[in-house]
Amino acid sequence: MSATTAPPANTHGKAAAIFVCVLAALAGLMFGLDIGVISGAQQFLQKDFGLSDDTLGWVVSVMMLGAALGALVAGWLSSQLGRKRTMILGAVLFVGGSVLCGAAWTPEVLIVGRLVLGVAIGLASFTAPLYLAEVAPESIRGAMISLYQLMITIGILVAFLSDTAFSYSGNWRWMLGIIALPGVLFLLGLFLLPDSPRWLMMRGRKQEATGVLQKLRGDADHVAREVADIEEQLKTPQRGWHLFLQNRNFRRSVGLGVLLQVMQQFTGMNVVMYYAPRIFRDMGYATAAQMWFTAIVGLTNVLATFIAIGLVDRWGRKPILYTGFAVMALGMGLVGTMMHLGIATHGEQLFTVAMLLLFIVGFAMSAGPLIWTLCSEIQPLKGRDFGIGCSTFTNWVANWLVGLSFLPLLNSIGQAETFWLYAAFNVVFIGLTIWLVPETKGVTLEQIERNLMAGKALRRIGQ
Ligand code: BGC
Repeated sequence: MSATTAPPANTHGKAAAIFVCVLAALAGLMFGLDIGVISGAQQFLQKDFGLSDDTLGWVVSVMMLGAALGALVAGWLSSQLGRKRTMILGAVLFVGGSVLCGAAWTPEVLIVGRLVLGVAIGLASFTAPLYLAEVAPESIRGAMISLYQLMITIGILVAFLSDTAFSYSGNWRWMLGIIALPGVLFLLGLFLLPDSPRWLMMRGRKQEATGVLQKLRGDADHVAREVADIEEQLKTPQRGWHLFLQNRNFRRSVGLGVLLQVMQQFTGMNVVMYYAPRIFRDMGYATAAQMWFTAIVGLTNVLATFIAIGLVDRWGRKPILYTGFAVMALGMGLVGTMMHLGIATHGEQLFTVAMLLLFIVGFAMSAGPLIWTLCSEIQPLKGRDFGIGCSTFTNWVANWLVGLSFLPLLNSIGQAETFWLYAAFNVVFIGLTIWLVPETKGVTLEQIERNLMAGKALRRIGQ
């Protein structure tokens, strides 16, 4: 997360670093599996347990509440136990939570299992990107963080596909339980990871940190320089809460991080992630088609993420966000309009599906990866952990609100109106982006920090 430029690592070291990063990015896979798995299981769960829409809303959304809790304690845990051990704890909880969900004998047990799963990814969603930023060489740091979002989308797709496969037998226990398997693999893989060199240095274990960097970078001179860099950075102690109370400029960047995550969630993306089969049912599709279309949603989400990866350092953040919010507003607005007019013919059904996919493209090419990137770019070094902790926590609380409120909204204001509401949010977000979001393309983190602390308007801190 620092912007100091390290010299390039040699090829052997770089390969080792990529291996370590790929393994850590698998935390994103768990994140995605967790998000994706519940959509296909819902209708079977609802039938088996005779759940009301309200209880079902809780089963879906209690996971996000757990994740908010996990994100809240992750900062402290990852500085006390270290990044690696916090991720191991996350993986153990993930495996335990999946098994509990698969075995759930009452709705209450299911809710507890989902809560445990939530805590697991709350821990992982804070710690994995931090670890990635700390072990990746500067030259591939951006790519490694995008890799993490890509893993999230792949996790969602895999969950949708496995849900589809099990939907023929209606076996929700397998749907929810099987994700323990990738969890076990991830857990085993984690034992191969070294501790983060930056964390080792924080703990005064310079020699071990040097040893780890030697493996990851390969070149002794390079390692010596990086160790000196880290030592320099550690002279700026993290004093997030203190800074928050004392410094108005830091409160502005924390506020912006929080707002960005609220925007990401209130695009309505997770309404589709959690309730896609139900939405397809309301369009008039039978179970098999609902599941296959949901899998197509997952695939679209993966593929469109590449648009963001390709454009982010060429177009910049703001133009991509404008485009994404506009595309999402159009997609959601037209889905709502079709539902309002009534979807009767095959052609109308397909058009509505296409508009929902357009919405997914809008999210995956913009807010999906970019909000995470921006949230880590805008915080000053002294308060970075605190600032990112606040925005990650907000991501999950907002995610929870969206998951919990969707069914009650459908049942109270109506289907078309619910989609229009999300379309309207996306229009508002275009305005907020113009007004408040900085362009951070090609700017060093130090420059952003200087501008912020000089009191420049938020939208200008990237200039
Ligand atoms: C969001 C998740 C969302 C996922 C979809 C992530 O960036 O934080 O809430 O489910 O993207 O791909």
